[in-house]
Amino acid sequence: MKLSLPGSHIPNQLSNGITVKNVTFGYETGCDILHDINVTFDRGKKYAIVGASGSGKSTLLNLLMASHGNYSGQIYYDGHEVKDINSKSLYDIVSMIQLNVFVFNASIRDNITMFHEFPEAEVSRAIELSGLSKLIAKRGEEYLCGENGSGLSGGEKQRISIARSLLKKSQVLLVDEATAALDAETAYQVSSAILGLDDITGIVVTHSLDEGLLRQYDGIITLKNGSIVETGTFAELIAEKGYFYSLFTISQ
Ligand SMILES: Nc1ncnc2c1ncn2[C@@H]1O[C@H](COP(=O)(O)OP(=O)(O)OP(=O)(O)O)[C@@H](O)[C@H]1O
Ligand SMILES: [Mg+2]
Repeated sequence: MKLSLPGSHIPNQLSNGITVKNVTFGYETGCDILHDINVTFDRGKKYAIVGASGSGKSTLLNLLMASHGNYSGQIYYDGHEVKDINSKSLYDIVSMIQLNVFVFNASIRDNITMFHEFPEAEVSRAIELSGLSKLIAKRGEEYLCGENGSGLSGGEKQRISIARSLLKKSQVLLVDEATAALDAETAYQVSSAILGLDDITGIVVTHSLDEGLLRQYDGIITLKNGSIVETGTFAELIAEKGYFYSLFTISQ
């Protein structure tokens, strides 16, 4: 039996990017969490979303994965409203790098390929771009990762998640560096790996306001109480001496 999923099928190549237009959203009616969000994520660029705890960063990221449909406004992948894209088609384009990535007690390679066949060159590329080369050089491709990845560091598990997404050929990678789940060093490694991926659109919710990393993003989106208060590059936002400047200065 062939299952057909609702919604339209879209190409698994993003041409222009993702546009969020006048989006207002609340988990409960009458209690809006995000207010009139307008932002464009250009294909191939890297974005950081910053803001205080509870400002709506994870909520915004989850909306990009169509986790909630009851928002007002529009979210477009190229010309396609995300609500109308069938979920298989959407998940071909976009991957959330999982914090609690499931790792099998199998080799690094099998954990990346998830036991599917891929051309050797594609596996090598995913390993290299995700930053797993060093680990493999040290332990070998056949190294067993241990029960739920007990033989790997947090950062190495994240890299496995990135490598899986690259093999899947996801065009858009989303990362939510939830403070509790990710230590600063791991968060740093994951952001660096994402920033190094040339053709990938990367959107990272980050808590570690590291100047060296922040300078590498094409855009920083600053949320405050569910509204975007500032967007720009690190240099622009610092020069503005507004809300981002104060967040950054306090964190140093
Ligand atoms: N599933 C939910 N149901 C109801 N309210 C929620 C839900 N998830 C989040 N919220 C509320 O929405 C607001 C924004 O939460 P969100 O998780 O997006 O913040 P955040 O910026 O990611 O915070 P943090 O930095 O702590 O991760 C908060 O007030 C939160 O309590
Ligand atoms: Mg969050």
